[in-house]
Amino acid sequence: MIYFDNAASTPLYPEVIATICDSLTKDFANPSSNHRLGRIQKEQIDLYQKDFLKLLGTDSADHFIFTSSATESNNTIINGLELKPGEIILYFSGDHKSVTDPIEKRMNSGIIGIEFSFEELINEKLSPKNINTDNVKLIVLSFVNNQSGNILNIDNLTIQLKKMYCKAHIHIDAVQGFGKIPFKINSTIDSASFAAHKIGGPKGIGGLYLKKDHRVGPLLLGGGQQAEFRSSTEAFSLIKGFHLATLLSVRDMQSNASSIETLQSELKSFLKLQIPQIQFPFQFTSPYILCLIIPGISSDILLRLLEEKQIYVSSTSACSSRIKGFNSVLKALVIPEKFHKNVLRISFSTMSNIDELQYFKEVFKAIWSEINYLVK
Ligand SMILES: Cc1ncc(COP(=O)(O)O)c(C=O)c1O
Repeated sequence: MIYFDNAASTPLYPEVIATICDSLTKDFANPSSNHRLGRIQKEQIDLYQKDFLKLLGTDSADHFIFTSSATESNNTIINGLELKPGEIILYFSGDHKSVTDPIEKRMNSGIIGIEFSFEELINEKLSPKNINTDNVKLIVLSFVNNQSGNILNIDNLTIQLKKMYCKAHIHIDAVQGFGKIPFKINSTIDSASFAAHKIGGPKGIGGLYLKKDHRVGPLLLGGGQQAEFRSSTEAFSLIKGFHLATLLSVRDMQSNASSIETLQSELKSFLKLQIPQIQFPFQFTSPYILCLIIPGISSDILLRLLEEKQIYVSSTSACSSRIKGFNSVLKALVIPEKFHKNVLRISFSTMSNIDELQYFKEVFKAIWSEINYLVK
C-alpha cells in the first residue's frame, strides 16, 4: 500500500503509538482529580503546555490550550472573539473550511467578511481596502495552504497587517506547516492552530496558542479545565502522543524536509516526462504537498485507478466543497474552472520514501498507457 494523502492525515510514529498505548493503560485517572494520580497528570499537562510555548519561541506566560482538533481551535477563535455587527474579518476564501465556514456563519449576523486575494498574499503586497481600518477586528491567515501547499511569509504579512489594522486580532492556521517548516510565533500573532494528526500524532487532539492577557469565549462550558478556556476532561494520553510527535517532527524537521523535497522533485520530473501537458500551478510550496492538473483526465477516475492498485492520493482537501466539479477553494486559488475536475493532490509525510515513489511510478506508468489517449 502506498499512502500519498498525508495532508489529510499522516500515519503515526511507532514511538507515538507505543507511548499512547502505554499511557492509556496507566494514566486512566482524571487530571482534575485532587489526588496524586490526578495531580501527576495535571503537572505533566502543564509541562507539555510550557514545552509547546518554548517550541513556538514565545513567552512562557502565554497560553497553549489542548483542543480536540484544529477545527475546534479555529472555531474557538472565530466564534469566541467578541465582534459587533459592522466589524470586519479579513480572510482568504481558499483556506480550510474550519476557517471559512465559521467566518461565513458570523457574516450572517452582521459581521463583514472581506477577502484577501491569492496574489496579494503570495506576493506579500497587501492592497489597502476601502474601509475604516479600526473596524478590522480579526484577520485569519494560513501558514501553508492545504490544497496548493503554498507557504505564506507569515512574519512579513503579519507585521504589515498589524501596522495597517492595529486593533485586529491576528490568527494563524499553522496546521499544515507546523513541525514541517520552521514556524515561530512573532509578536504580532495573537493566536494559532495546530493538529497532531498532520505530524505523525493521533487524530482527536489539537492545540491553540493564545497570547497572554487575551481571552476568547469558550466553545464548551463545564468543568472549566485549562484555565476556563476549554471545559472537558483533558485527553491526557493523546496530549502525550501529540507532544512526542511534535518533538520528533521538530527534531528532524530540516533533514525530513530536504529528503521530501528530493522525493517531490523526482516525482515532478517523472510526471513531466510522462505527461507533457501536466501543470504544476503553484510556486513557493511546501515539499510535503504537490498539487497538479492533468488536462482532460478526471481526477476521480485517476484516483479510482490508483486505488485499485492500493495507491492513495486525493483530488482536493478531504473537507473542501465540491459542487458539480466547481470548487470555491480552487477558484480562490485562481485555478480556471475548466480544470477543477482535473486537480490532483499528492502529499507526503516524513515517512514517505523512495521505494514508495518507485512503486508509484511503475503503477502510474501502466495506468497512464491505458488512459493517455484522453488527454487533449
Ligand atoms: C489547513 C488546515 N486547517 C485546519 C484543518 C482541520 O484540522 P482537524 O482535522 O484537526 O480538524 C486542516 C485539516 O485538513 C487543515 O489542513
